[in-house]
Amino acid sequence: VIAALTPQDLQGRNILVTAGPTWEPLDPVRLLTNRSSGKMGYALAAAARRRGANVTLVSGPGSIRPPAGVELIPVVTANEMHQAVCQRVDATDIMIMAAAVSDYRPARHEPHKIKKGATDASLALVSNPDILRELGERKKTATCFPLLVGFAAESENHLEEGQRKLTSKNLDLIAINDIGAEDAGFAVDNNRVTLLDRNGAVEELPLLSKEEVAHRILNNILRLT
Ligand code: CTP
Ligand code: CA
Repeated sequence: VIAALTPQDLQGRNILVTAGPTWEPLDPVRLLTNRSSGKMGYALAAAARRRGANVTLVSGPGSIRPPAGVELIPVVTANEMHQAVCQRVDATDIMIMAAAVSDYRPARHEPHKIKKGATDASLALVSNPDILRELGERKKTATCFPLLVGFAAESENHLEEGQRKLTSKNLDLIAINDIGAEDAGFAVDNNRVTLLDRNGAVEELPLLSKEEVAHRILNNILRLT
């Protein structure tokens, strides 16, 4: 009954969603990661599917069950996510980058477990590719390119930082997470986000379930297509 009542307003659209954290290995037992659970991205994938889209979910490691009817592409590192996304740009109408990609990775991935006392206890890091920024750059010269939607996780100055990312990454829409709010954000079921679009529209959503936030984001996306 619920499926029948959901408008099929994304019918036939090819939507790619990135979700979850990335894992950046240091040695066979240790890694660099973050607190992302993947819930927001999975909620977006599920909502888009329910509204009739063909959904590809490029997901970092996590323990939530992928939504039914969605093509799951599991990845581990930022480099793997980068490759998986880039391969699919041409087949995608809308890209929603909800993943919490690690900005850095250890400079070396040691094949054997690092022994206590074997190093000077400092960790050398190198930058990962910024997948969304790279897509935004490509969009500047492309004749036809997917709609680009980003997220921003901010603990301070969230509106200013979100606006800066929207512009500098050449996005169509950004969903800003105020991770300072205790009841919303990482690894919980609710989220409080502010949506900014390329035309300057600002929509501050109240605290909502991630499912409801997903539908609101999709509504905004539809208005921009
Ligand atoms: N993102 C990405 N690749 C990266 C880092 C981020 O695609 N290597 C995407 C995220 O999926 C998100 C957006 O960029 O949609 C913003 O991520 P965020 O971490 O908030 O911003 P950064 O640009 O990484 O800046 P900072 O972490 O310094 O705030
Ligand atoms: Ca970042």
